[in-house]
Amino acid sequence: MRFIRNTAAILYVLLWISCIYSFAQNSIYSIVTCPGEDTRTQMNISWAADTSASDSYLLYTKSGDRKWKKAEIVMPEQYLCPVFDSVYSKTSSGENFYESALFMKCNASLSHLKPDTEYAYKVISASENGDTSDIHYFKTSGANKWSACIISDFHTYTPLPKRLDAAMGVIDKVHDYDKNIDWILHMGDVCAWGGSYSFWKRLYQEDYFKKYMWAGVNGNHDNMTRKYLLTNDFFRNANYYPRNGYKGEEGVCYYFRYNNALFVMLNNENMRSDEGLAAAREWVRKVVTANPAQYIIVCEHYQWFFGESGKASQYGRWSDLFDELGVDLAIAGNNHIYLRTGALYQGKETDGTYGTVYVQTPSSDNERGVAIKDSLSANTDIIKYRWSEGDKTVGAMHIKVTNKGMTLVLMNRNGEIIDRFKVL
Ligand SMILES: [Fe+2]
Repeated sequence: MRFIRNTAAILYVLLWISCIYSFAQNSIYSIVTCPGEDTRTQMNISWAADTSASDSYLLYTKSGDRKWKKAEIVMPEQYLCPVFDSVYSKTSSGENFYESALFMKCNASLSHLKPDTEYAYKVISASENGDTSDIHYFKTSGANKWSACIISDFHTYTPLPKRLDAAMGVIDKVHDYDKNIDWILHMGDVCAWGGSYSFWKRLYQEDYFKKYMWAGVNGNHDNMTRKYLLTNDFFRNANYYPRNGYKGEEGVCYYFRYNNALFVMLNNENMRSDEGLAAAREWVRKVVTANPAQYIIVCEHYQWFFGESGKASQYGRWSDLFDELGVDLAIAGNNHIYLRTGALYQGKETDGTYGTVYVQTPSSDNERGVAIKDSLSANTDIIKYRWSEGDKTVGAMHIKVTNKGMTLVLMNRNGEIIDRFKVL
């Protein structure tokens, strides 16, 4: 009898803990560390809080401060975010439904951080007995040597969870290759429908969002709903990127400094027209001119070259400006075929000491890949390497940067190095 009573008591406590835990999991979510404009001293933290919960705030400290004795509080800017609510979508079990996603969007700006330092933070609900998030970590830039994982096109789709598993699995391999990566860079299409908030919410539960800063570009899939409603509001409100983009693109197009590199992040969806392209080009010229850095890296979603034929895609719209501005590395995704060039200037390969290297990442979801069927029919002199595993492609990249140059590696799902190149 006593045994039964004790067991009942234990079960009751476990149930109580699990209720608290699920509440804690539910009222603060989608926490993601984004770069501030200068990642040596600034980071932007984004999260969502239930409208029923009271105000939430961020507590951060250096990760060596194990008892949080020197922790500081940062109150976020917050607003009611309506853009994802009632969007037609799919549940994880594949049923049609309308998303219920009205939440307080919280944006915390951390500044005056110490360069090259690891920090820990948690998000706390201000109410009595308020929930506390898991501890998240990030590292400020400032070290002369740094490295990152680069990934794209995994199209998180909760009815098919193996897509996300495949992408996180290949990040594991990049992480095995270099346990000291500092952050993760993505080239877009991280969600199948960016309008489906449940997809973002699921994505942000992954451990790699607890350990690293993520920076990325808006992909065409991130920019749309299931019913093809198109807007950059999804990408803007699922993240908190620096608001230093041009009109209409604040928090979507942005630039940030990662130690000795300037990253310029573009949104292809707003440059489909000539006017849109001109506005983007003008902004890139202004940003690069005003922010001199050892390395200039431009990122966008749409491919520089069509991977199947080798014909120019976005390369034709940007290469003259990249020549003019001395862009060192141009990274893209979308095509689902990995492709890279040598260093190019005025359409020709250089000796590598100047010019822009163009690279586009493969897909990583083991499902939506594109096969290479034919040999190149264009640009055979400047395209150095292509790779795909057909529709079941899983690949990611590693970038290591020192004062002497950048080394990039393409890796498959087994962690085997498929391609390696240097950018001087
Ligand atoms: Fe894609």
